Amino acid sequence: MTVPGWQVYWQAQTSSTMEDAAKLIDCGVVRDALAGAEEQTAGQGRHGRSWHSEPGAGLYVSFILQPRIDLAEVPIITLALGLAVQEAILRVSDIACDLRWPNDVMIGARKVAGILVRLHGASLIAGIGINVNHAAMPAELSAMATSLRMAAGRVFDRNELLARLAQTVRAFVELLEADGKEPILRLFAQQSSYVRGRRVAVDHESGALRGTTDGLDPSGFLWLREEHGKRTLVRAGGVRPI
Ligand code: BTN
Repeated sequence: MTVPGWQVYWQAQTSSTMEDAAKLIDCGVVRDALAGAEEQTAGQGRHGRSWHSEPGAGLYVSFILQPRIDLAEVPIITLALGLAVQEAILRVSDIACDLRWPNDVMIGARKVAGILVRLHGASLIAGIGINVNHAAMPAELSAMATSLRMAAGRVFDRNELLARLAQTVRAFVELLEADGKEPILRLFAQQSSYVRGRRVAVDHESGALRGTTDGLDPSGFLWLREEHGKRTLVRAGGVRPI
């Protein structure tokens, strides 16, 4: 794979590109680089889950970034990366994805891409997995996951998608650096059907909550109007439609 403007470290097989990116940072490759692989044998998802990484079918890539932002703004970077994945997919496939807060990329009710953000030293690792040319998902995932091929009925050039993704990741990070978090918050709220008026369940630190989503706070966290009227800020985890 070649990507203009990025140092690319590509392997046929790895355990996880998150680990590869961390090792690269330890060796001094601290920005403008990406670690990718055709296959991951231990792909990592959020909350300790694994990421299904069928050989040659998906994009499995960890971008090494050093955004000039306050590290308190990492939740906003997460939203910005969701926007970047959404735009890259739209440009390459014409598929308009939804964004499920904080950063699941959805085609209808099924997830097509996921994002895992981790700090390592002074760098940020943005791990992105996109289900591209999977002909089918494993039985245990088929109700909740899909691929671009399954949605569009054709295969896609993964190198083209990666090049576009590298561009949109850089563009959204630069937008955040230049204009601050407001445009990202505004765009995310525009592009996600989950930000407002959506009935969801949430695993919150205070237990399982149910309610209706009620916008983003200035840090990028999600407001939930609970069924009895209380407004609770959801900082972590994810939401499930009910
Ligand atoms: C999620 O659970 O939604 C996040 C999934 C992130 C998967 C990507 S694939 C490339 C990178 N390497 C990993 O091991 N995980 C991320």
